[in-house]
Amino acid sequence: MSLVCLTDFQVLARQKLSKIIWDFIEGGADEEITRDDNVAAFKRIRLRPRYLRDMSEVDIRTTIQGEEISAPICIAPTAMHCYIWPDGEMSTARAAQAANICFITSTFASCTLEDIVATAPRGLRWLQLYVQLDWEINKYIVRRAESLGFKALVITVDVPITGKRRNDMRNHLDLQKKMKIKYPGSPEEKNFTSEAQPTHFNASFCWDHLSRMQSITKLPIILKGILTKEDAELAVKHKVQGIIVSNHGGRQLDEVPSSIDALVEVVTAVKGKIEVYMDGGVRTGNDVLKALALGAKCIFLGRPVLWGLACKGEHGVEEVLNILKTEFHSSMTLIGCRSVAEINRDLIQLSKLSLL
Ligand SMILES: Cc1cc2nc3c(=O)[nH]c(=O)nc-3n(C[C@H](O)[C@H](O)[C@H](O)COP(=O)(O)O)c2cc1C
Repeated sequence: MSLVCLTDFQVLARQKLSKIIWDFIEGGADEEITRDDNVAAFKRIRLRPRYLRDMSEVDIRTTIQGEEISAPICIAPTAMHCYIWPDGEMSTARAAQAANICFITSTFASCTLEDIVATAPRGLRWLQLYVQLDWEINKYIVRRAESLGFKALVITVDVPITGKRRNDMRNHLDLQKKMKIKYPGSPEEKNFTSEAQPTHFNASFCWDHLSRMQSITKLPIILKGILTKEDAELAVKHKVQGIIVSNHGGRQLDEVPSSIDALVEVVTAVKGKIEVYMDGGVRTGNDVLKALALGAKCIFLGRPVLWGLACKGEHGVEEVLNILKTEFHSSMTLIGCRSVAEINRDLIQLSKLSLL
């Protein structure tokens, strides 16, 4: 079967993976309303193309936190790639490096940070952090990330506890039993459990603790999981460097807005003071275009990267990224934008977007 779009990879990945792992990847929380709406909401938005412009050259490059990337398409943090492909995050990191985009490594990566960096030393990498109760561990991870050349710290804010994922419960998924996760760089190389185990999330982490994090690192701090104008304003007030509008792929609180719907509210509140990114439901080049038109600096891909990994390892991830880049290039050409800087809200039909 030729794989020509991201959902082709989804179909093939399902055949390649065991039911338990497939359910783990695809699952959302509760009734999976937000998971599905992440994709559906993009499809409610209509575009306004402009013609008779010289479209012989189109440049899809951009920057995030001052670093150039080949396209506004990067990789969201997802746990435990070794479930999906033998050398896990190492394959993902090589594909990201080849594509010249950013790979956010998860707290629950199944390879060590050292191995990930050694296999893709030139790749742009950010580290996602579930802030731990034990500040010695937080400090140790931050130091390790800094010395390994991670360029930003992504603090996930939407997991004080894990969402209820019904299929994982039905499957009696016990990730701890299946694989010992080495929390990247903890002093004792403690074995931590996966994100399926709520005991290792810090439900007490709050805005007041951010300054403590800022006092232990000079790395830019990006908050992942912001969905409202109130929290966006607080993020700016607390001097973080960026926000990823995200609902964790619909895996946490169900029935929150889709990411693309929440993006407008957050971008408006931030007033251009910090960069805003988004993830959730991006499956086509048009989706990327819509996210940028509504104010995202770049998008991050979650599940589609795992589908690529499941199908063909590193080469599958490369293909997924290349397909999306090519589609985005076509979308820009067809709508009349020669550079990412030319993408703006005029490309969106406002009557179709209830929030504007
Ligand atoms: C299998 C899986 C594991 C995930 N693990 C993490 C994680 O460790 N840390 C995190 O911040 N987000 C995690 N996420 C959420 C993603 O970073 C991202 O928000 C989401 O997948 C984006 O939606 P999409 O899958 O529709 O692209 C995970 C998502 C999936 C599907």
